[in-house]
Amino acid sequence: MKPLFSKRMNVVPHVALATLLVLAFLLIGGTWYYATPSFWEVGYQPDQPVNYSHQIHASKLGIDCRYCHTYVTESRTANVPSVSTCMNCHTVVDDKNGYLKLAVSSDGTTPSIHWQSPDLQKLREFWAAGEAVPWKRVHKLPDYVNFNHAAHINVGVSCLSCHGRIDEMPKVHQVQSLSMAFCLECHRAPDKNLVDVHGAVAEDGVAAPIWPTDLATVQDTLARPGYAQDVGARLAQRLRDAPPTHCSACHY
Ligand code: HEC
Ligand code: HEC
Ligand code: HEC
Ligand code: HEC
Ligand code: HEC
Repeated sequence: MKPLFSKRMNVVPHVALATLLVLAFLLIGGTWYYATPSFWEVGYQPDQPVNYSHQIHASKLGIDCRYCHTYVTESRTANVPSVSTCMNCHTVVDDKNGYLKLAVSSDGTTPSIHWQSPDLQKLREFWAAGEAVPWKRVHKLPDYVNFNHAAHINVGVSCLSCHGRIDEMPKVHQVQSLSMAFCLECHRAPDKNLVDVHGAVAEDGVAAPIWPTDLATVQDTLARPGYAQDVGARLAQRLRDAPPTHCSACHY
C-alpha cells in the first residue's frame, strides 16, 4: 500500500516549527520595540512617583546640581539622590530648619507648603517605610556604549550641552537625542561647548572661570559672539586628549 504521507512530508513538522519560532521572535521583538516606552528619544518625559521640580530647587532655591547628583564629577555615572538627601530639608521634625521657614508666608500665618503638599506627603511615606522613591529613568544609553560623566564635566563640558536647561524644568524631559551622531558632532568640534572650569584661559585675561553646573551663566557665555573661535578654541587646544572618534573609545 502507498504510505499516507510521502517521505518528503517528514520535513513538514520541522519547517512548521522553524516558521513558528521565527514568527514568535518577530512578535516578541516587535512588541518589545513598539510597546516599550520611548526611551532615548527627544521629549521623553515620564510621570514621576513624586512631582519633584528642578525649577524650584535648582533655579528658585539655587541648590547646586552636585548637592543631589553627588558623584557626577567623580564617576562615570551621575547618581539620583536618596530620600535622605531630600530629608535634609523636608523632615517634619526640624522646624528650626531655614528652608522650612522659607516656605511659610512672610506674616507667618499661612501653613508651610511642607505640611500640605500631597507630593511631600508621598515623600514622607517613602521615608517612613524606608523605601527608595522609584524614579523613572529618563536618559539611557544602550549597554554597549561607554560613557563617563566626570571625564566630560571636568574638562568643561556643561550639563547644559547634553541635558539642556534642567534648572528651568518643573518636570524633567530629554532635550538631546544622545545618538552616536550627537556625540560625534561635539567630538569633532568641541570649541562651542567648552567652558573654563579651571580658570586656565582666565589667566590670558579673556574670560572668568565658570562652573559647568551654573547653567544660566554657561548658556550666556557660550552664546557670546565669537566665543567658540576665541575662548572655546583656546580651551580645546588645552585638552589633554582630543575627544576620541575611533569606535573602540565608545564601544566595548
Ligand atoms: C534637590 C535635589 C536635586 C538637585 C539640586 C538637582 N537634581 Fe537633578 N534630579 C533630582 C531627582 C530626585 C531626580 C529624579 C527625578 C526626576 O527625574 O525628576 C533628578 C533627575 C535629573 C536628571 C534626569 C535623570 C534621568 O533619569 O535621566 C537630570 C539630567 C538631572 N537631574 C540634572 C540636574 C542638573 C543639571 C541639576 C543642576 C542644574 C540638577 N539635576 C539638580 C534631584 C536633584
Ligand atoms: C536644600 C533644601 C531642600 C532640599 C535638599 C530638597 N528640597 Fe524640596 N523644597 C524645598 C523648599 C524650600 C521648598 C518650597 C519651595 C517654594 O515653593 O518656595 C521645596 C518644595 C518641594 C516640593 C513642592 C511642594 C509643592 O507641592 O509645591 C516637593 C514635591 C519637593 N520639594 C520635593 C523634594 C524632593 C523629592 C527632594 C529630594 C530629591 C527635595 N525636595 C529636596 C527645599 C528643599
Ligand atoms: C556629554 C554629555 C553629558 C553631560 C555633559 C552630562 N550628562 Fe548626564 N547623562 C548623559 C548621558 C548620555 C546619560 C545616560 C547615561 C547612561 O545611560 O549610561 C546621562 C544620565 C544622567 C543622569 C541619570 C543617571 C541615573 O543613574 O539615573 C543624571 C542624574 C545626569 N545625567 C545628570 C547630569 C548632571 C548633573 C550633569 C552636569 C553636572 C550632567 N549630567 C552632564 C550625558 C551627559
Ligand atoms: C558637548 C560636547 C560633547 C558631547 C555631546 C559628548 N562628548 Fe565625549 N568628550 C568631549 C570632550 C571635550 C572630551 C575630551 C575629554 C578629555 O580631553 O579628556 C570627550 C571625551 C570622551 C571620551 C574619552 C574619555 C573617556 O571617557 O574615557 C569618551 C569615551 C566619550 N567622550 C564618549 C562620549 C559619548 C558616548 C557621548 C554621547 C553620549 C559623548 N562623549 C558626547 C565632549 C563631548
Ligand atoms: C563618541 C562616541 C562614539 C563613537 C566614537 C562611535 N560610536 Fe557608535 N554609538 C554611539 C552611541 C551613543 C550609540 C547609541 C545610539 C543610540 O542609542 O541611538 C552608538 C550606536 C552604534 C551602533 C548601533 C546603531 C544603531 O542604530 O543602533 C553601531 C553599529 C555603532 N554605534 C558603530 C560604531 C562604529 C563602527 C564606530 C567607529 C566608526 C562607532 N560606532 C563610533 C557612540 C559612539
